[in-house]
Amino acid sequence: AEQNRELKERLLQLKKERNAIILAHYYQRDEVQEVADFRGDSFLLAQKAAQTDADVIVFCGVHFMGESAKILAPNKTVIIPDERAGCPMADMVNVEGLRALKRQHPNAKVVAYINTSADVKSETDICCTSANAINVINSVDSDEIIWVPDKNLGDYVSKFTSKKVIIWEGYCNTHDMLTVKDVEEMRAQYPNAQFVVHPECRPEVVKLGDFVGSTTAIIKYCKESDCKEFIVGTEDGTGYQLRLDSPDKQFHFATKYLVCPNMKVNNLKKIVKCLETMQPEIYVPEDVADKARLSLERMLQVK
Ligand code: 13P
Ligand code: SF4
Repeated sequence: AEQNRELKERLLQLKKERNAIILAHYYQRDEVQEVADFRGDSFLLAQKAAQTDADVIVFCGVHFMGESAKILAPNKTVIIPDERAGCPMADMVNVEGLRALKRQHPNAKVVAYINTSADVKSETDICCTSANAINVINSVDSDEIIWVPDKNLGDYVSKFTSKKVIIWEGYCNTHDMLTVKDVEEMRAQYPNAQFVVHPECRPEVVKLGDFVGSTTAIIKYCKESDCKEFIVGTEDGTGYQLRLDSPDKQFHFATKYLVCPNMKVNNLKKIVKCLETMQPEIYVPEDVADKARLSLERMLQVK
C-alpha cells in the first residue's frame, strides 16, 4: 500500500511534467483503471485520443489501441506501459491475406474491427468497434462486405443486415473459450441472474444472452436494469466499472478464464516507468497512417 501511494504521487508529478493523459481499457487491472483519466471501451478511447489536447497519451490496453491512438493523433507522443501487450485476434489477419480476399471479391467493401494492425487498416474502407459494428456495416455503400478478423462478431452483425458478409476466420482467445455448458452451469447456480454477453463470444453462447453488447453497452445495461444479479460473459476487468456503477448489485463472471493475459501485462509500476523513460513509444509509418486514418475517422462518424 505504501509503495502504491508513492507510485501514485510520482505518477501525478510525471503527468503534469509531461502534460500526459492516461487512457485505460475496461479490461485493464483495477490499479490501472484507478489512475486513468478516462476508462472506456475501444470506441470511447479512440475518440478521447482523437480529441485530447495533452502532449502525451499513455495508452493502457493492447498494441492496436495505442496504434489507433497514434494514427488519430499523429502529432502526439503515444507511449504504452509494455510492448508485449498484443492482441492475438488482431494478429490473425495480415495485409497479404486481406488483399487476396479483396481480389476474390472485387466489389466488396472492407469493414475491419478496430482489433487489427495499422497495415490492415490501411487496406480497409471503414473500421468499427463492437459498439457500432451493426451501424457501420449498414452505413457502407455496398451490398457485399468483407469482414475481418472476428468470426463471432461477424456472425452476430450479419444477423442485423441484409448485406452479404464474407467473414474472416479470426477470434478472441479469451471470449471464444466460453461454452454453452459454462453458462448453463452458472444459470443453475444463480437462477435469478441475467446473462449479459459480449458478441466476441461464440454464436451459440451469444444466443443465450439476456443482453448482448459491447463492454460499454453491458456496463450501461447492468446499471440501468432493475435486475440485481448478473452472469457476465466478457473479460473480468469489466468488473471494476460494473461494481463502481452498481455497488448494490452482484456480478458473477461466467468462468474464471475470462481473463485476457495481454491486457493484464500492464500495471501501475510500468505506467510510471514509461512516463519516466518515454518508452516504448508507438510509431506508425506516415504512408500507412495516412491511409489507416481515413478508415478510423469514418468509424468515429458512426455512433
Ligand atoms: P470493446 O472495447 O469494443 O468492448 O472490445 C472488446 C475487446 O476485446 C477489446 O480488445
Ligand atoms: Fe484481443 Fe480478446 Fe484480449 Fe481483446 S480480449 S485484446 S480481442 S485477445
